[in-house]
Amino acid sequence: MRKRLNFLILLLFVLCTLASCGSNARTDNELEKAESDRSISKEKEEIETISENSKSFDTDNPNVTDTSDLSEAKNENVLIIYYSFTGTTRKITQTIQEKTGADTLEIEPDFNYFINDVEDVVQEQLREGYLPKLLNTVPDLDSYDMIFVGSPVWWFTTPPPIKSFFSQYDLTDKNIVPFCTYKTHMGTFFEDFEAACPDANLLQSQDFSGYVLSDEEQTMEIIDQWLQNLGFEE
Ligand SMILES: Cc1cc2nc3c(=O)[nH]c(=O)nc-3n(C[C@H](O)[C@H](O)[C@H](O)COP(=O)(O)O)c2cc1C
Repeated sequence: MRKRLNFLILLLFVLCTLASCGSNARTDNELEKAESDRSISKEKEEIETISENSKSFDTDNPNVTDTSDLSEAKNENVLIIYYSFTGTTRKITQTIQEKTGADTLEIEPDFNYFINDVEDVVQEQLREGYLPKLLNTVPDLDSYDMIFVGSPVWWFTTPPPIKSFFSQYDLTDKNIVPFCTYKTHMGTFFEDFEAACPDANLLQSQDFSGYVLSDEEQTMEIIDQWLQNLGFEE
């Protein structure tokens, strides 16, 4: 009788243990499922955040210059101010003008440069920081949304007539597009250009070396790509 009782107690114990294992196994499964659900919803959240961020990068990320309104502004609100001694920068200006419909203005310094000694004279002027006065008045700059400023490279830098323009006009927050023509070495032209108008909002610049300028087709392609980058349509 006692043996039978012992056997019954043992049987009861075994059954209880099995039942408890089963319930633990279920609990473990449930925990695993809950864990996996949590990680799926976390991944979803991350993907949603990334895609939200990409959307704002495309449309209204303030670090990306939005030029869409500038292309609408062409024909009316674009000005090209330039200086040209031997005509090369003028030729590039004319091409930009034809493609954009911009107004143009050639800077006229009150100092006459002559071909036979221009290099020595300019070197001296740059050393002394001489700035010629400008004979012409630039129209109301505030009426333009975008202003191209074109120039030859003189002694690896920005020529005095262009520096005169920067010193005489307030370009704070103006959208300025620099471009230059040169033979072989532009040196620090764009760095000096930027330093001379530190408060302007400089947009994509373009340089034209003698090598590029000798190939009209290549020059046209560069101008087209550049204008397209600036928001102009073909
Ligand atoms: C005074 C002077 C300095 C020049 N300095 C440079 C120079 O540093 N690097 C260069 O590649 N070309 C230089 N050039 C060549 C002109 O930058 C180049 O011919 C330019 O396209 C001329 O433009 P423009 O015809 O509009 O005046 C210089 C020309 C002159 C007259």
